[in-house]
Amino acid sequence: MPLDLTPKIIDQLLDSLVEKGWFEWPNAVTDELCLNLLTEVEKHDSEGELQRAGIGRGKALQLNKEVRQDSIYWLNGKSSIQQTYLKQMAEIQFQLNRALFLGLLEYESHFALYKEGGFYKKHLDSFRGHANRVVTTVLYLNPNWQDEWGGELVIYNEKSTETLATITPQMGKLVIFMSEEIPHEVLPTKQPRVSVTGWFRCNASIAGNIDPAL
Ligand code: OGA
Ligand code: MN
Repeated sequence: MPLDLTPKIIDQLLDSLVEKGWFEWPNAVTDELCLNLLTEVEKHDSEGELQRAGIGRGKALQLNKEVRQDSIYWLNGKSSIQQTYLKQMAEIQFQLNRALFLGLLEYESHFALYKEGGFYKKHLDSFRGHANRVVTTVLYLNPNWQDEWGGELVIYNEKSTETLATITPQMGKLVIFMSEEIPHEVLPTKQPRVSVTGWFRCNASIAGNIDPAL
């Protein structure tokens, strides 16, 4: 089933991104696709294929347990489940380019698993001027998430410590935000917490160097 990209929801998404820099979209993706994605990441986990997430890329990659405690698996588009998901993100990319002229060229994404106690301290996904990651997407895959389990995504004001939103990682919810503008954090979770995080990029590389060290 495709994303329910009605003109109304597209307008809401675009207005919200322009005015606030972020958009919370509950039930964006069907339970069926979310459960299939969840099954896929659980299989990769049971086969030991997840890797500890780091900060930065390439030579600058650092494993820093103080900042970030999740394990990831990069999507490679090989399974039909992934292809269905990637097609839906391509629809969003098309709408963002059509209306906002963002010039998004690429989409990269990974599954992320936060085990009990996992968190990701306040950060930005991209640094202004480096023009690599432009728009972030996070799709949650957790059925029947309970408030007392924590694991919320907190969105902060760009210029102060004010909290703008505290978002539960409920299955099917898609959060979309401007990667360079929106500081955010994942609060410690009491239950395993699974998501697909992705980034639309406006360049594949700078001087042939993919994601140069920041
Ligand atoms: C990230 C991130 C947020 C979330 O992977 O960079 O901030 O809610 N994820 O999982
Ligand atoms: Mn992030």
